[in-house]
Amino acid sequence: MKVYADVLIVGTGIAGLYSALHLKNSLKVVMLTKENVDDCNSYLAQGGIATARDKCDIDNYVQDTLKAGKYKNNEEAVRILAEESIDNINNLIKLGVEFDRIDGELQYTREAAHCKNRIVHCKDRTGKEVFNVLLKRVKEKKNIEIIEESCLIDIIEKNNTCFGGIAVKNNEVINIHSKITILACGGIGGLFKNSTNIKTLTGDGISIACKHKIDLKDINYIQFHPTSLYEKGGNRRFLISEAVRGEGGYLLNNRGMRFVDELLPRDVVSKAIFIEESKSNSEYVFLDITHKNSQYIVNRFPSIYEACINKGIDITKNRIPVTPAQHYLMGGITVDTYSRTSMNGLFACGEVSCTGVHGANRLASNSLQEALVFSRRASIVINDYVDDIELNKLESDEIYKYVNAAAVKQENVKIALNELIKVRGDLKNELVNC
Ligand code: SIN
Repeated sequence: MKVYADVLIVGTGIAGLYSALHLKNSLKVVMLTKENVDDCNSYLAQGGIATARDKCDIDNYVQDTLKAGKYKNNEEAVRILAEESIDNINNLIKLGVEFDRIDGELQYTREAAHCKNRIVHCKDRTGKEVFNVLLKRVKEKKNIEIIEESCLIDIIEKNNTCFGGIAVKNNEVINIHSKITILACGGIGGLFKNSTNIKTLTGDGISIACKHKIDLKDINYIQFHPTSLYEKGGNRRFLISEAVRGEGGYLLNNRGMRFVDELLPRDVVSKAIFIEESKSNSEYVFLDITHKNSQYIVNRFPSIYEACINKGIDITKNRIPVTPAQHYLMGGITVDTYSRTSMNGLFACGEVSCTGVHGANRLASNSLQEALVFSRRASIVINDYVDDIELNKLESDEIYKYVNAAAVKQENVKIALNELIKVRGDLKNELVNC
Protein backbone atom coordinates (compact mmCIF):
# COMPACT_ATOMS: atom_id res chain seq x y z
CA MET A 1 0.00 0.00 0.00
CA LYS A 2 1.22 3.51 -0.79
CA VAL A 3 0.33 6.80 0.84
CA TYR A 4 1.44 10.25 -0.35
CA ALA A 5 1.77 13.26 1.94
CA ASP A 6 3.51 16.59 2.21
CA VAL A 7 4.44 15.89 5.82
CA LEU A 8 4.59 12.58 7.66
CA ILE A 9 4.53 12.87 11.46
CA VAL A 10 5.39 9.74 13.41
CA GLY A 11 3.84 9.88 16.87
CA THR A 12 0.67 11.45 18.24
CA GLY A 13 1.93 12.77 21.55
CA ILE A 14 1.94 16.48 22.29
CA ALA A 15 4.98 17.17 20.06
CA GLY A 16 3.36 15.42 17.09
CA LEU A 17 -0.09 16.98 17.53
CA TYR A 18 1.24 20.49 18.16
CA SER A 19 3.50 20.41 15.11
CA ALA A 20 0.57 19.15 12.99
CA LEU A 21 -1.57 22.06 14.20
CA HIS A 22 1.07 24.57 13.20
CA LEU A 23 1.51 23.28 9.65
CA LYS A 24 -0.30 25.19 6.89
CA ASN A 25 -3.82 23.99 6.05
CA SER A 26 -2.75 23.57 2.42
CA LEU A 27 -0.42 20.70 3.36
CA LYS A 28 -1.50 17.09 3.41
CA VAL A 29 -0.34 15.71 6.75
CA VAL A 30 -0.32 12.04 7.71
CA MET A 31 0.23 11.06 11.35
CA LEU A 32 1.18 7.56 12.41
CA THR A 33 0.81 6.08 15.84
CA LYS A 34 2.21 2.73 16.90
CA GLU A 35 -0.82 1.69 18.95
CA ASN A 36 -3.86 3.80 19.86
CA VAL A 37 -3.67 7.53 19.47
CA ASP A 38 -3.46 8.13 23.24
CA ASP A 39 -0.73 5.54 23.89
CA CYS A 40 1.91 8.17 24.47
CA ASN A 41 3.85 9.49 27.43
CA SER A 42 2.37 12.97 27.03
CA TYR A 43 -1.00 11.51 27.99
CA LEU A 44 0.46 10.29 31.27
CA ALA A 45 2.15 13.55 32.26
CA GLN A 46 0.76 14.53 35.64
CA GLY A 47 2.60 17.49 37.15
CA GLY A 48 2.20 20.22 34.57
CA ILE A 49 4.08 22.49 32.20
CA ALA A 50 6.92 24.73 33.36
CA THR A 51 6.83 28.29 32.09
CA ALA A 52 8.40 31.64 32.78
CA ARG A 53 5.89 33.54 34.94
CA ASP A 54 6.62 36.79 33.10
CA LYS A 55 9.48 38.47 31.23
CA CYS A 56 11.34 39.13 34.51
CA ASP A 57 11.33 35.39 35.29
CA ILE A 58 13.04 34.32 32.03
CA ASP A 59 16.59 34.57 33.39
CA ASN A 60 15.70 32.64 36.57
CA TYR A 61 13.96 29.94 34.55
CA VAL A 62 17.06 29.65 32.32
CA GLN A 63 19.31 29.40 35.39
CA ASP A 64 17.14 26.71 37.05
CA THR A 65 17.15 24.65 33.83
CA LEU A 66 20.93 24.95 33.45
CA LYS A 67 21.62 24.14 37.08
CA ALA A 68 19.39 21.03 37.09
CA GLY A 69 21.04 19.98 33.80
CA LYS A 70 24.51 20.28 35.39
CA TYR A 71 25.38 22.96 32.85
CA LYS A 72 25.59 20.32 30.11
CA ASN A 73 22.65 22.03 28.36
CA ASN A 74 22.66 23.89 25.08
CA GLU A 75 22.26 27.39 26.47
CA GLU A 76 20.84 28.85 23.27
CA ALA A 77 18.07 26.24 23.25
CA VAL A 78 17.35 26.83 26.94
CA ARG A 79 16.93 30.57 26.34
CA ILE A 80 14.58 29.92 23.41
CA LEU A 81 12.57 27.56 25.64
CA ALA A 82 12.22 30.17 28.37
CA GLU A 83 11.52 33.08 26.00
CA GLU A 84 8.83 31.25 24.02
CA SER A 85 7.24 29.47 26.99
CA ILE A 86 4.63 32.12 27.88
CA ASP A 87 3.49 32.36 24.28
CA ASN A 88 2.88 28.64 24.08
CA ILE A 89 0.89 28.55 27.31
CA ASN A 90 -1.28 31.40 26.00
CA ASN A 91 -1.67 29.51 22.77
CA LEU A 92 -2.82 26.38 24.61
CA ILE A 93 -5.36 28.48 26.50
CA LYS A 94 -6.63 29.89 23.19
CA LEU A 95 -6.94 26.35 21.84
CA GLY A 96 -9.13 25.48 24.83
CA VAL A 97 -6.90 24.10 27.61
CA GLU A 98 -8.35 25.00 31.01
CA PHE A 99 -5.43 25.26 33.39
CA ASP A 100 -6.25 25.47 37.11
CA ARG A 101 -6.82 29.01 38.29
CA ILE A 102 -7.16 30.83 41.57
CA ASP A 103 -9.26 34.02 41.64
CA GLY A 104 -9.21 33.93 37.84
CA GLU A 105 -5.39 33.93 37.63
CA LEU A 106 -3.29 30.94 36.55
CA GLN A 107 -2.33 28.83 39.57
CA TYR A 108 1.35 27.89 39.54
CA THR A 109 2.67 24.93 41.50
CA ARG A 110 6.21 24.16 42.62
CA GLU A 111 8.35 21.21 41.60
CA ALA A 112 11.88 20.25 42.47
CA ALA A 113 14.79 22.57 41.59
CA HIS A 114 12.58 25.47 40.47
CA CYS A 115 13.36 28.58 42.50
CA LYS A 116 9.68 29.52 42.50
CA ASN A 117 6.19 28.22 41.70
CA ARG A 118 6.26 28.07 37.91
CA ILE A 119 4.23 25.07 36.78
CA VAL A 120 0.79 25.47 35.20
CA HIS A 121 -1.39 22.42 35.59
CA CYS A 122 -4.77 20.79 35.21
CA LYS A 123 -4.99 19.08 38.61
CA ASP A 124 -2.76 15.98 38.31
CA ARG A 125 -3.69 15.11 34.73
CA THR A 126 -2.17 17.97 32.75
CA GLY A 127 -0.88 15.79 29.91
CA LYS A 128 -4.25 14.15 29.37
CA GLU A 129 -6.13 17.49 29.32
CA VAL A 130 -3.66 19.13 26.92
CA PHE A 131 -3.55 16.02 24.73
CA ASN A 132 -7.37 15.86 24.51
CA VAL A 133 -7.64 19.51 23.45
CA LEU A 134 -4.87 19.19 20.83
CA LEU A 135 -6.34 15.96 19.45
CA LYS A 136 -9.77 17.58 19.17
CA ARG A 137 -8.27 20.50 17.23
CA VAL A 138 -6.30 18.14 14.97
CA LYS A 139 -9.45 16.15 14.22
CA GLU A 140 -11.20 19.36 13.15
CA LYS A 141 -8.60 19.81 10.41
CA LYS A 142 -9.45 18.25 7.07
CA ASN A 143 -5.81 18.16 5.93
CA ILE A 144 -4.63 15.85 8.72
CA GLU A 145 -5.13 12.08 8.70
CA ILE A 146 -4.21 9.86 11.65
CA ILE A 147 -3.40 6.22 10.98
CA GLU A 148 -3.47 4.19 14.21
CA GLU A 149 -1.80 0.87 15.04
CA SER A 150 0.91 1.49 12.47
CA CYS A 151 4.44 0.79 13.54
CA LEU A 152 7.20 2.69 11.75
CA ILE A 153 9.82 0.13 10.85
CA ASP A 154 12.12 2.33 8.84
CA ILE A 155 12.47 5.58 6.93
CA ILE A 156 12.86 5.84 3.16
CA GLU A 157 16.29 7.31 2.61
CA LYS A 158 18.64 8.05 -0.25
CA ASN A 159 21.89 10.01 -0.07
CA ASN A 160 21.15 11.31 3.42
CA THR A 161 17.73 12.66 2.43
CA CYS A 162 14.54 11.31 3.93
CA PHE A 163 11.63 10.67 1.57
CA GLY A 164 9.10 9.26 4.03
CA GLY A 165 8.60 6.17 6.13
CA ILE A 166 7.73 2.49 6.01
CA ALA A 167 5.11 1.29 8.46
CA VAL A 168 3.29 -1.92 9.19
CA LYS A 169 -0.41 -2.08 9.93
CA ASN A 170 -2.17 -5.43 10.38
CA ASN A 171 0.87 -7.14 8.90
CA GLU A 172 0.59 -5.07 5.75
CA VAL A 173 3.48 -2.81 4.71
CA ILE A 174 2.58 0.83 4.02
CA ASN A 175 5.05 3.10 2.21
CA ILE A 176 4.37 6.70 3.11
CA HIS A 177 6.08 8.98 0.58
CA SER A 178 6.47 12.48 2.00
CA LYS A 179 8.42 15.66 1.37
CA ILE A 180 9.19 16.06 5.07
CA THR A 181 9.18 13.55 7.91
CA ILE A 182 8.94 14.48 11.58
CA LEU A 183 9.87 11.86 14.16
CA ALA A 184 7.91 12.54 17.33
CA CYS A 185 7.79 8.93 18.43
CA GLY A 186 8.91 9.23 22.05
CA GLY A 187 11.55 7.68 24.23
CA ILE A 188 12.91 4.39 25.43
CA GLY A 189 11.01 3.48 28.62
CA GLY A 190 9.65 0.27 27.10
CA LEU A 191 13.21 -1.10 27.12
CA PHE A 192 13.28 -0.98 30.92
CA LYS A 193 11.85 -3.38 33.48
CA ASN A 194 10.79 -0.49 35.70
CA SER A 195 9.62 2.59 33.90
CA THR A 196 6.82 5.12 34.19
CA ASN A 197 6.53 5.08 30.38
CA ILE A 198 4.11 3.43 27.99
CA LYS A 199 5.50 -0.06 27.30
CA THR A 200 5.36 0.23 23.52
CA LEU A 201 7.90 3.09 23.49
CA THR A 202 10.94 1.01 22.70
CA GLY A 203 13.36 3.50 21.17
CA ASP A 204 12.26 2.93 17.57
CA GLY A 205 13.29 6.43 16.50
CA ILE A 206 16.72 6.01 18.09
CA SER A 207 17.28 2.66 16.41
CA ILE A 208 16.25 4.01 13.01
CA ALA A 209 18.68 6.89 13.55
CA CYS A 210 21.47 4.42 14.42
CA LYS A 211 20.80 2.39 11.30
CA HIS A 212 20.94 5.47 9.05
CA LYS A 213 23.86 7.08 10.87
CA ILE A 214 21.80 10.12 11.83
CA ASP A 215 23.57 12.06 14.60
CA LEU A 216 22.63 11.14 18.15
CA LYS A 217 23.58 13.00 21.31
CA ASP A 218 23.74 12.20 25.01
CA ILE A 219 21.84 8.92 24.96
CA ASN A 220 23.60 8.02 28.20
CA TYR A 221 21.57 10.78 29.93
CA ILE A 222 18.65 8.79 31.26
CA GLN A 223 16.43 10.18 34.01
CA PHE A 224 15.04 8.12 36.87
CA HIS A 225 12.00 9.72 38.50
CA PRO A 226 12.34 9.48 42.29
CA THR A 227 8.77 8.54 43.11
CA SER A 228 7.03 5.78 41.19
CA LEU A 229 4.52 3.72 43.15
CA TYR A 230 6.25 0.61 44.45
CA GLU A 231 4.49 -2.65 43.59
CA LYS A 232 5.88 -6.13 43.59
CA GLY A 233 6.20 -7.29 39.99
CA GLY A 234 3.70 -5.29 38.00
CA ASN A 235 3.86 -3.77 34.60
CA ARG A 236 4.33 -0.06 34.02
CA ARG A 237 5.24 1.84 37.20
CA PHE A 238 2.55 4.34 38.18
CA LEU A 239 4.00 7.83 38.71
CA ILE A 240 3.44 9.76 41.90
CA SER A 241 3.93 13.28 40.60
CA GLU A 242 6.74 15.46 41.80
CA ALA A 243 3.98 18.02 42.47
CA VAL A 244 3.11 15.94 45.57
CA ARG A 245 6.51 16.87 46.97
CA GLY A 246 6.14 20.37 45.50
CA GLU A 247 2.95 20.79 47.54
CA GLY A 248 4.68 19.66 50.75
CA GLY A 249 4.99 15.83 50.65
CA TYR A 250 7.88 14.31 52.64
CA LEU A 251 10.09 11.37 51.82
CA LEU A 252 10.54 9.06 54.82
CA ASN A 253 12.69 6.00 55.38
CA ASN A 254 11.37 2.86 57.07
CA ARG A 255 12.11 4.41 60.48
CA GLY A 256 9.84 7.33 59.59
CA MET A 257 12.75 9.81 59.22
CA ARG A 258 13.28 12.34 56.42
CA PHE A 259 16.62 11.72 54.69
CA VAL A 260 16.83 14.20 51.78
CA ASP A 261 15.59 17.66 50.78
CA GLU A 262 12.63 16.55 48.63
CA LEU A 263 12.98 19.50 46.25
CA LEU A 264 16.52 18.83 45.05
CA PRO A 265 16.95 17.82 41.38
CA ARG A 266 15.58 14.41 40.40
CA ASP A 267 18.94 12.68 39.99
CA VAL A 268 19.99 13.74 43.50
CA VAL A 269 16.72 12.64 45.11
CA SER A 270 16.69 9.32 43.20
CA LYS A 271 20.25 8.60 44.31
CA ALA A 272 19.39 9.40 47.93
CA ILE A 273 16.45 6.97 47.73
CA PHE A 274 18.59 4.19 46.21
CA ILE A 275 21.14 4.66 49.02
CA GLU A 276 18.41 4.66 51.67
CA GLU A 277 16.84 1.51 50.20
CA SER A 278 20.15 -0.30 50.20
CA LYS A 279 20.98 0.81 53.77
CA SER A 280 17.65 -0.48 55.04
CA ASN A 281 17.57 -3.50 52.75
CA SER A 282 14.20 -2.39 51.42
CA GLU A 283 12.81 -2.02 47.89
CA TYR A 284 11.06 1.27 48.66
CA VAL A 285 10.81 4.33 50.86
CA PHE A 286 7.67 6.31 51.72
CA LEU A 287 6.10 9.49 50.42
CA ASP A 288 3.88 11.12 53.02
CA ILE A 289 1.31 13.84 52.31
CA THR A 290 -1.08 12.86 55.13
CA HIS A 291 -0.33 16.06 57.08
CA LYS A 292 -2.26 18.05 54.45
CA ASN A 293 -6.02 18.51 54.54
CA SER A 294 -7.65 15.42 53.05
CA GLN A 295 -10.18 17.37 50.96
CA TYR A 296 -7.32 19.39 49.50
CA ILE A 297 -5.38 16.21 48.63
CA VAL A 298 -8.35 14.58 46.88
CA ASN A 299 -9.14 17.75 44.97
CA ARG A 300 -5.53 18.56 43.96
CA PHE A 301 -4.48 14.98 43.10
CA PRO A 302 -7.66 13.17 42.03
CA SER A 303 -5.97 10.72 39.63
CA ILE A 304 -3.21 9.76 42.08
CA TYR A 305 -5.79 9.42 44.87
CA GLU A 306 -7.95 7.15 42.75
CA ALA A 307 -5.09 5.01 41.42
CA CYS A 308 -3.74 4.48 44.94
CA ILE A 309 -7.14 3.80 46.51
CA ASN A 310 -7.65 1.09 43.87
CA LYS A 311 -4.49 -0.52 45.21
CA GLY A 312 -5.61 -0.24 48.83
CA ILE A 313 -3.63 2.90 49.72
CA ASP A 314 -5.58 5.93 50.95
CA ILE A 315 -3.05 8.72 50.43
CA THR A 316 -4.95 11.02 52.82
CA LYS A 317 -4.23 8.54 55.62
CA ASN A 318 -1.41 6.24 54.50
CA ARG A 319 2.18 6.75 53.45
CA ILE A 320 2.80 5.80 49.82
CA PRO A 321 5.55 3.23 49.09
CA VAL A 322 7.71 4.69 46.30
CA THR A 323 10.89 3.86 44.44
CA PRO A 324 12.73 5.43 41.49
CA ALA A 325 11.95 4.23 37.96
CA GLN A 326 13.22 5.08 34.49
CA HIS A 327 11.26 8.12 33.33
CA TYR A 328 12.87 10.15 30.54
CA LEU A 329 15.65 10.22 27.96
CA MET A 330 17.38 13.61 27.90
CA GLY A 331 19.48 12.69 24.87
CA GLY A 332 18.25 11.50 21.51
CA ILE A 333 18.45 12.47 17.86
CA THR A 334 20.55 15.62 17.59
CA VAL A 335 18.51 18.58 16.39
CA ASP A 336 19.11 22.28 15.94
CA THR A 337 16.81 24.93 17.39
CA TYR A 338 14.33 24.32 14.54
CA SER A 339 14.28 20.56 15.19
CA ARG A 340 16.29 19.73 12.04
CA THR A 341 18.27 16.49 12.25
CA SER A 342 21.50 15.72 10.42
CA MET A 343 19.45 14.17 7.59
CA ASN A 344 17.80 16.38 4.97
CA GLY A 345 14.02 16.36 5.14
CA LEU A 346 13.99 14.75 8.59
CA PHE A 347 12.96 16.59 11.75
CA ALA A 348 12.65 15.27 15.30
CA CYS A 349 10.65 16.70 18.21
CA GLY A 350 9.80 15.73 21.76
CA GLU A 351 11.56 13.00 23.72
CA VAL A 352 13.07 11.27 20.68
CA SER A 353 15.05 14.44 19.95
CA CYS A 354 17.93 16.11 21.74
CA THR A 355 17.73 19.90 21.58
CA GLY A 356 20.18 20.02 24.47
CA VAL A 357 17.61 21.86 26.59
CA HIS A 358 17.76 19.34 29.43
CA GLY A 359 21.50 18.81 29.69
CA ALA A 360 22.36 15.86 31.91
CA ASN A 361 19.19 16.01 34.01
CA ARG A 362 15.80 17.41 33.03
CA LEU A 363 14.22 20.07 35.22
CA ALA A 364 10.74 19.00 36.32
CA SER A 365 7.90 19.75 33.89
CA ASN A 366 10.21 20.96 31.13
CA SER A 367 9.38 18.09 28.79
CA LEU A 368 5.97 19.29 27.61
CA GLN A 369 7.23 22.86 27.23
CA GLU A 370 10.18 21.62 25.14
CA ALA A 371 7.78 19.58 22.99
CA LEU A 372 5.59 22.66 22.41
CA VAL A 373 8.35 25.17 21.70
CA PHE A 374 10.43 23.07 19.35
CA SER A 375 7.62 21.33 17.47
CA ARG A 376 6.12 24.72 16.68
CA ARG A 377 9.50 25.98 15.50
CA ALA A 378 9.82 22.91 13.25
CA SER A 379 6.46 23.65 11.64
CA ILE A 380 7.31 27.32 11.10
CA VAL A 381 10.45 26.41 9.17
CA ILE A 382 8.71 23.59 7.26
CA ASN A 383 5.88 25.94 6.20
CA ASP A 384 8.52 28.24 4.73
CA TYR A 385 10.09 25.82 2.27
CA VAL A 386 7.95 22.71 1.87
CA ASP A 387 6.19 24.01 -1.26
CA ASP A 388 9.55 24.19 -3.04
CA ILE A 389 10.23 20.48 -2.51
CA GLU A 390 9.15 17.95 -5.11
CA LEU A 391 7.62 14.73 -3.78
CA ASN A 392 10.04 11.91 -4.51
CA LYS A 393 8.10 8.66 -4.95
CA LEU A 394 11.21 6.56 -4.57
CA GLU A 395 10.67 3.02 -5.83
CA SER A 396 13.96 1.60 -4.66
CA ASP A 397 14.42 -2.04 -3.69
CA GLU A 398 15.35 -0.65 -0.31
CA ILE A 399 11.67 -0.16 0.45
CA TYR A 400 10.73 -3.74 -0.28
CA LYS A 401 13.35 -5.56 1.70
CA TYR A 402 11.26 -5.20 4.87
CA VAL A 403 8.75 -7.92 4.22
CA ASN A 404 8.97 -9.66 7.54
CA ALA A 405 7.56 -6.91 9.67
CA ALA A 406 7.68 -8.77 12.98
CA ALA A 407 11.39 -9.42 12.60
CA VAL A 408 12.07 -5.81 11.77
CA LYS A 409 10.15 -4.53 14.78
CA GLN A 410 12.18 -6.80 17.02
CA GLU A 411 15.34 -5.68 15.25
CA ASN A 412 14.59 -2.03 16.08
CA VAL A 413 14.33 -2.83 19.75
CA LYS A 414 17.58 -4.79 19.67
CA ILE A 415 19.48 -1.99 17.97
CA ALA A 416 18.20 0.53 20.53
CA LEU A 417 19.11 -1.80 23.40
CA ASN A 418 22.61 -2.44 22.10
CA GLU A 419 23.22 1.27 21.63
CA LEU A 420 22.15 1.90 25.20
CA ILE A 421 24.25 -0.87 26.61
CA LYS A 422 27.25 0.51 24.71
CA VAL A 423 27.02 3.78 26.64
CA ARG A 424 25.31 2.69 29.86
CA GLY A 425 26.51 -0.84 30.57
CA ASP A 426 25.73 -0.13 34.23
CA LEU A 427 22.02 -0.26 33.41
CA LYS A 428 22.17 -3.72 31.86
CA ASN A 429 20.19 -5.37 34.64
CA GLU A 430 17.52 -2.68 34.42
CA LEU A 431 16.94 -3.29 30.71
CA VAL A 432 14.42 -5.82 29.48
CA ASN A 433 15.88 -8.88 27.87
CA CYS A 434 14.83 -8.87 24.22
C1 SIN B 1 5.78 14.61 37.46
O1 SIN B 1 4.62 15.01 37.54
O2 SIN B 1 6.49 14.39 38.43
C2 SIN B 1 6.34 14.34 36.10
C3 SIN B 1 6.48 15.57 35.34
C4 SIN B 1 7.78 15.54 34.61
O3 SIN B 1 8.26 14.47 34.23
O4 SIN B 1 8.39 16.61 34.47
